Amino acid sequence: MCGIVGYVGQKKASPILIDGLLKLEYRGYDSAGLSTIETNSISNIKNKGRVNSLNDIPELSTLEGTIGIAHTRWATHGKPSVVNSHPHMDNSKTFSVVHNGIIENYNDLRIFLTNNGYNFLSQTDTEVIPNLIHYYFSKDTNNDDKKFLRAVQSACNDFKGSYAIEVISSLYPDRVIVTRKDSPLVIGIGENENHISSDIPAILSYTKDFYLLDDNNYVEIYKDHLNFYNSNLEKIEKSIKNIEWDATAAEKDGYEDYMLKEIYEQPKSIRETIGSRIKLDAPSCFDDLNFTKEYLSSLNKICIVACGTAMHAGIATKTLIEHLCNIPVEVEIASEFRYRNPIINEKTLAIYISQSGETADTIAALKLAKSKGCKTLAISNVIGSSITREADYTIYTHAGPEIAVASTKAYTSQVVLLSILGIYMAEILGTTKSYVLEDLKKEIFELPNKMQTVLNDVSGIKNFAKLVHKEKDMFFIGRGTDYAVSLEGSLKLKEISYIHSEGYASGELKHGPIALIEDNTTVVSVITNEDLMEKSISNVQEVATRGAKTFVVTNQNIDKSRFDYVVEIPPVNSLISPALSVIPLQLFSYYIAKEKGLDVDKPRNLAKSVTVE
Ligand code: G6P
Repeated sequence: MCGIVGYVGQKKASPILIDGLLKLEYRGYDSAGLSTIETNSISNIKNKGRVNSLNDIPELSTLEGTIGIAHTRWATHGKPSVVNSHPHMDNSKTFSVVHNGIIENYNDLRIFLTNNGYNFLSQTDTEVIPNLIHYYFSKDTNNDDKKFLRAVQSACNDFKGSYAIEVISSLYPDRVIVTRKDSPLVIGIGENENHISSDIPAILSYTKDFYLLDDNNYVEIYKDHLNFYNSNLEKIEKSIKNIEWDATAAEKDGYEDYMLKEIYEQPKSIRETIGSRIKLDAPSCFDDLNFTKEYLSSLNKICIVACGTAMHAGIATKTLIEHLCNIPVEVEIASEFRYRNPIINEKTLAIYISQSGETADTIAALKLAKSKGCKTLAISNVIGSSITREADYTIYTHAGPEIAVASTKAYTSQVVLLSILGIYMAEILGTTKSYVLEDLKKEIFELPNKMQTVLNDVSGIKNFAKLVHKEKDMFFIGRGTDYAVSLEGSLKLKEISYIHSEGYASGELKHGPIALIEDNTTVVSVITNEDLMEKSISNVQEVATRGAKTFVVTNQNIDKSRFDYVVEIPPVNSLISPALSVIPLQLFSYYIAKEKGLDVDKPRNLAKSVTVE
């Protein structure tokens, strides 16, 4: 989605702003722009297309300003065009604004402003912001130093919707004002300079010290100090958070793409996810959870709610949690959950999974559960992200920054974290024999090495990908947790290779999809559960006899000659096998997309962080 960057310091702002925008490119966007404060006026440069196209605008090199704001836009109101790109200015060109989110009542505000003599050049919701700020500014007769801030606050009080906003003014050439509501924004603290961004990695090369803003906080940012205010513009104190990620971790590190790097990082990220949460011969522990037997025994169900890959992590671990804890688990799509009337109450534990912690539907679904009295638990990869501030409890995946749009290491970390959570709750409840839990813990500890084994030889996967990269349709099938991972494998393929694919429960093949199998249709199947192996093999045979090309990921002792290609993975308990069996599927999609010459990190039409509906 859209990205925001800002700079207040002593250096020329424009190259720093462009550098930040480039680092936010992965979020997906269609146009870019920036404003800097020049001597007594604001310069505004914007263009449709890539960030680098701003370098083609001659005026850019003339900018000397040391304060600026910048934006990558992903069109919501009005098509991608220069005029619709941010920053937007008020009619008098006194204020310049960039905005992430949506001002839902922008039409009413536009009518109000038009009736008050303002003109609009763009079709965006954002353009009401600088004009409304100007409106309140011009009505304020008190000319003190907080007049600019008051105008921003008055305008924000009128907005319905979500926003992260940066504002500069030619009348106040020493500061940027920022605020947020339901949209991310962080401030990075430097030596005589401060950076602003919607996302930590964009400014991680400048600092590791950040302020995270709460909804309706206002901040005046100067080069050497900051003033924080609450929604009533009373001064508040904020503490600095030190972010441990190092800047190179957010770069490609010699890999061709972020996605490949992130696939290869999985042994490491899983070690981080495990951390000290499980130990052999000792109870599991989460620093931030204090569940009691009484509370867990009172639960009527657990709801896991998320979108995309995060939702698939919920499906992949439902069986484990039910099996270990004897509590029913429902997995729901956040965008569906939030608009129905789910039967949940104070006896329901609602778990929300979100890599970014900023997905609008997931946050709204969490708010709904809270309003119905549920305890809410967020699982996120981003420290201080919006979802973590809404939830009663948060546990972090600690997978490190994930830049590629298609999620890989976040998925395996989510699967492992939910598995550890299941073990932790079962230990408190006493619902599973301790030797079973100890065995599972051992299996989790062994996962990183097993992942490394899979990653050590990818040549077969690469070759099969080469063979089938021109296909139009594919199927991913499996039973139990293998079905769960098939859904994720199918999503990966769609996301980055643009090949139509479906994930199906093998037992459902005969109820429809088998009609689509013809000569050379590729069917990918996952077989890791010994109890279901025979049935799964029969299903693959059924499609093979109808001409399908079969690609099998397995750790079972099967007759390889019956399939076109078999990837063997190490043995693993089927309750946690998705964390391992997904890796060949991630690589399969990756190599198909590469074979087709596609941009795997930034697939068309997709965004890393879906902060609007
Ligand atoms: C988008 C991303 C996916 C991600 C999903 C949920 O669709 O492209 O990779 O799985 O959002 O994102 P979240 O940050 O909530 O996990």
